[in-house]
Amino acid sequence: MDVILFGPPGAGKGTQGALLAERLNIPRISTGDILRQAVRDGTPLGQKAGAIMKAGELVPDDVILGLVRDALNADAAVGGAVFDGFPRTVEQARALDDILSESARPLSAVLVLDVDDETLVKRLAGRRQCPNCGAVHNRYFSPPQTEGRCDRCGAPLTQRADDQEDTVRRRLEVYGSQTAPLLRYYEDSATPVHRVDGTGTVDEVQERLRQVLDS
Ligand code: AP5
Repeated sequence: MDVILFGPPGAGKGTQGALLAERLNIPRISTGDILRQAVRDGTPLGQKAGAIMKAGELVPDDVILGLVRDALNADAAVGGAVFDGFPRTVEQARALDDILSESARPLSAVLVLDVDDETLVKRLAGRRQCPNCGAVHNRYFSPPQTEGRCDRCGAPLTQRADDQEDTVRRRLEVYGSQTAPLLRYYEDSATPVHRVDGTGTVDEVQERLRQVLDS
C-alpha cells in the first residue's frame, strides 16, 4: 500500500505518518527528515538544502526525486510506503506516478489533513525539541516545567531552523501557492482523495485516518 499524507506545514504529517507506518508495517518516507539529516551530516546536499529550508522555500525537484528514488529502492519499501511531505509539486507527483507504475504499484490514497492557519502557526512557532532525548514540547500547548529545559532529561531545548514565526508564515505561503494546487491533480486522477480533520488529539486524528483507510 502506498499512501500520501498531504497537508500544510504543521498539519501533523510526521506525527500521523509515523503511527500509520507502524500500523501498516511499511516505512515512512519523509523528504524533510532526509534533508535535515543531510544538513546535520554536512553533506554537499545538506549544505545546498539547508539555506533553502531555512528560508522556507522548496528544494529543487530533481534533488528531491533523487532522494525518493533511493528511499524506494530500499528493501523495506518494496511493499509500499507512507509519503510525508512528498510530493509537493505537480512535477514531483508525476514522477512518483511514473516510479510506482514501473513496479505496478497504484497509489492507494491521498489523505489530506485539514488544520486552520492559526493552529498551524502555534504548533510550529511554539515547537521546541530536545536534541538529547527527542522529546517535543510546545510553548503554547505543552510548555516545559522549566523554561527552555526538557521535562524528560533536562537538556536545553532547541528550535527547528525553519520554525521562526516569519519562516513559518513563508512556509504556509509556499504551501498555498506551490503545493495546495497539487490537490487538483489528485482529484482529477483515479486515486481516492480523503479530507480528514487534523485537529484534536493525536489519537483522535489517527483514529479518523484509520477509519478512512479501513473503509
Ligand atoms: P518538512 O519536514 O516536510 O516540513 P513541513 O511539512 O513544512 O512541516 P512539519 O514537518 O513541521 O509539519 P508536519 O505536517 O509533519 O507536522 P508534525 O507532525 O511535525 O519540510 C521541511 C522543509 O524541507 C520544506 O520547507 C522544504 O524546504 C524542504 N522539503 C521537504 N520536502 C520537500 C519536497 N518534497 N520538495 C521540496 N522541498 C521539500 O507536527 C508539527 C507540530 O505539531 C509538532 O510539534 C507536533 O508535536 C504537533 N502536533 C502534531 N499533531 C498534533 C495534534 N493533533 N495536536 C497538537 N499538536 C500536534
